[in-house]
Amino acid sequence: MTAAIMPVLPESIALAADILSNGGLVAVPTETVYGLACDARNGEAVARLYAAKGRPAFNPLIAHVATIAIAEREARFTPLARKAAEALWPGPLTLVLPTGPEGTVCDLARAGLSTVAIRMPAHPAALALLKAFGGPLVAPSANRSGHVSPTRAEHVMDDLSEVIDLVIDGGPCLVGIESSIVSFLGDAPSLLRSGAYDVSTIEDAIGQRLVSPPASSDVTAPGQLRAHYAPRARLRLDAAAPEPGEGFISFGPGPASGINLSPSGDLTEAASRLFATLRALDSRYDRIAVAPIPEFGLGLAINDRLRRAAHRD
Ligand code: TXA
Ligand code: MG
Repeated sequence: MTAAIMPVLPESIALAADILSNGGLVAVPTETVYGLACDARNGEAVARLYAAKGRPAFNPLIAHVATIAIAEREARFTPLARKAAEALWPGPLTLVLPTGPEGTVCDLARAGLSTVAIRMPAHPAALALLKAFGGPLVAPSANRSGHVSPTRAEHVMDDLSEVIDLVIDGGPCLVGIESSIVSFLGDAPSLLRSGAYDVSTIEDAIGQRLVSPPASSDVTAPGQLRAHYAPRARLRLDAAAPEPGEGFISFGPGPASGINLSPSGDLTEAASRLFATLRALDSRYDRIAVAPIPEFGLGLAINDRLRRAAHRD
C-alpha cells in the first residue's frame, strides 16, 4: 500500500493523530527536516519505525513534544536546561536529560538508556499534530537509513511511500539542517551535535559556554556520542540453552525458558522487548545467554546491539 499524501488541514492532522494512536507511521514537516513520527510510548510502533527506515542499528531517537509541561514529565530538567527550553523552544534545539520518574518514552526509542533526547519543534504542522496526539512522538528524519534527510514531502515519498501510512505535505522545510543537540547530563552542558541553532545563540540563551563532550564518552563521529546502554552482565550469544547461573533470553517457539523476546518468532515484537529484557536480566544475573536471532530485517539491528553488548563497549 502506498502512503497517502495530504496537505496541512484540520482533517489531515486529525487523521494523522488517529493513525499514530493506532501505532502507525506518519511523516510530518518540522522546521528542520521531515520527521517520521510514531507514538514514543509504543514499543512495537517504534520497532516498525526502525524497520521502515532500514536502520541497521537502534540509535536513540528524539521525543518531540507540544508543551514544556509534557517535556517536564518525560525528563528531569536542570535549571539551565529549563532556561534553554524557555528561550529557544519551540525551535531546533534538542536537550539530552535524565528520564523523568513519570517518563513514558519506551526503552527501544531510548535504545535502553536512562536518558532521553527531547525537543519542541517550531513548525505549525508538527505542533498541531503533537497537540492533537497529546503525547510524545519520536521522529527521526523521514528517509531510508543512509540517504540524505528530506526537506520536501516528495523526498519522503521517494524513500518511504511503501512502508509508512501518511505524509503530511507542509511544503519545503525552512531550515534544512537537523536540530542542535545539547547534553545537560554532566557538570557543564555539552554540544553533542551541531545543528540549526548556532552555538553562540544557545550560549547566550543559557548564559554559559558549551563544552565539547568529555573524551571519556566514546565519541565515534564528529559531534556524535556513542550513546548506548551497556549491560553489566557478560553476554554469551547463539546459545542453545542456559548454563547453570546464566540468565536466558530466548526467541521463537520452543520450551519455555528464561525470557522469550517473541514466542511466535516475530522480530518486531522481539525488538520492542529487547532493552527491557536485557535490563531485567542484567539486574539479576552476572551472565546472560542469548538464543540465536535470525539475521534479517530487525534481526540485524537486534544482533548488532547484542554483539556490541557482548563486547562490553
Ligand atoms: O531536527 C531534528 O532533530 C530531526 C527532526 C525530524 O526533528 N530529527 C532528527 O532525529 O535528527 P535523528 O533520529 O536523525 O537524530 C537523533 C539524534 C542521534 O544523533 C542520536 O544519537 C541523538 O539524537 N540522541 C537521541 N537520544 C539520545 C540520548 N539519550 N543521548 C545522546 N544522544 C541522543
Ligand atoms: Mg537522521
